Amino acid sequence: LLLIIDFGSQVTQLIARRLRELNVYCEIHPFQNVTAAMLAEKAPKAVILSGGPDSVTRPGSPRPPREVFELGVPILGICYGQQVMMEELGGKVLSGDGTAEFGRAFVTPADEKLDLLEGWFSTGREQVWMSHGDHVAEIAPGFRVFGTSPGAPFAITADPGRHFYAVQFHPEVHHTPRGSQLYENFVRAAGFSGDWTMGAYREEAVRMIREQVGDAKVICALSGGVDSSVAAALIHEAVGDQLTCVFVDHGLLRLNEAEEVVGMFRDHMNLHVIHAQEQDLFLGALEGVSDPETKRKTIGRLFIDVFQKYADGIEGARFLAQGTLYPDVIESVSFAGGPSVTIKSHHNVGGLPEKMGLKLVEPLRELFKDEVRALGRELGLPAHFIGRHPFPGPGLAIRCPGEITRAKLDILRKADAVYIDQIRRHGLYDEIWQAFVAILPVRTVGVMGDGRTYDYACALRAVTSVDGMTADYYPFSHDFLSETATRIINEVKGINRVTYDITSKPPGTIEWE
Ligand code: XMP
Repeated sequence: LLLIIDFGSQVTQLIARRLRELNVYCEIHPFQNVTAAMLAEKAPKAVILSGGPDSVTRPGSPRPPREVFELGVPILGICYGQQVMMEELGGKVLSGDGTAEFGRAFVTPADEKLDLLEGWFSTGREQVWMSHGDHVAEIAPGFRVFGTSPGAPFAITADPGRHFYAVQFHPEVHHTPRGSQLYENFVRAAGFSGDWTMGAYREEAVRMIREQVGDAKVICALSGGVDSSVAAALIHEAVGDQLTCVFVDHGLLRLNEAEEVVGMFRDHMNLHVIHAQEQDLFLGALEGVSDPETKRKTIGRLFIDVFQKYADGIEGARFLAQGTLYPDVIESVSFAGGPSVTIKSHHNVGGLPEKMGLKLVEPLRELFKDEVRALGRELGLPAHFIGRHPFPGPGLAIRCPGEITRAKLDILRKADAVYIDQIRRHGLYDEIWQAFVAILPVRTVGVMGDGRTYDYACALRAVTSVDGMTADYYPFSHDFLSETATRIINEVKGINRVTYDITSKPPGTIEWE
């Protein structure tokens, strides 16, 4: 067992995921639950201290029990975890004084070699992803410096004798491109052999679904995305006809989406699907609402109501299945009282009322998007469906900042269809992780022909990502962008200005709300 002690970083599960890729079994435990007794019982072969939002300079900030450092096993401290290690082992951490770093940075190696870094510095320096306000001012006794960045003179430090490693950056995120090498070196130093696979996950998930559900009926919230498709297929494999899918048409779907999704599930997957036409209910409740969290919570609440309504119609339905993924869980985790900060209330998790008549089945809760795709392939779902870009539960509502109107949604749908068509025509769809149009809440002046126009502006978004946790904007050519802008303005009445969003995540998020 490799134990990950969670101090509330937004990306702690990515560490677990990197370890799964290396076929290493690990468990994440919040720091509050890690006691000396628990350490003795679990006897981990290695420990990772995660990042976190707190500052070790604050009295009462989270710490692991001291016994962690006395286990005699390799320890890797990341970001906040690095700072905790330094403080606890006799070094010093300071806040502020202008050394905060967010985003890309480059680390250069020191002269001395370190097993953790073997094969990592292929060129003279490595790109890493930083996200820290505090910094280490003095390293703990026994530690030496093995890598520096312009903002972090102690970017990589270690006490090689004890196999204690401390890094300021996040090797688990996609934007530390070769970070997996560090985990590989770390688990090798800890003596792991590795035997965890996606096939094992599928079997285990099917077993657990059967155990949880028994002979009760399950209704599945189909959004038409990859997540709910894979969840439905997995649950169908586990409990067969005990499953009924409900596809809620909330009026916030893309052009022709409802017909395509319902057709696909009925024809290709042979599932029982109810098409719930609830456009008026959702759009009515959203009238006059412009606050993003209110939108999300309104939609989340209505989703539950609608499901309950349909569940009531199915004799013996006691479970609600959802394709909730780990990023949904972590970004909503403060709901559950965990240590990280709420960025957005994802409708899958956030809107759930305590006293819902249905219990949840969420077989994908521990997985990231690409792991879900791998599981989908394992389950035999059609490739074109697995390759679809993600689409958020609240749909177009969060791509329409400000007030939502049917007129704006119609414009947005058309613009989005043109944009996606452009991306497909240019063969770029599979290179992009997610692409969509957002309609902006401003109208601007233009001139078409000899006339003045006063229409909406829209923003094109396209990002590359592996897991949705971090993302970079896609570098379209100028030709592609101007061709697309021209097509949208010519083909979509109501838009006279097109912009391209070039924000990465962090500091932005992928969706606009
Ligand atoms: P953000 O905007 O948080 O999005 O960077 C990360 C990924 O999550 C999707 N997303 C959602 N998915 N329910 C979902 O199922 C939601 O409420 C939700 N909000 C955002 C988003 O499209 C992106 O892929």
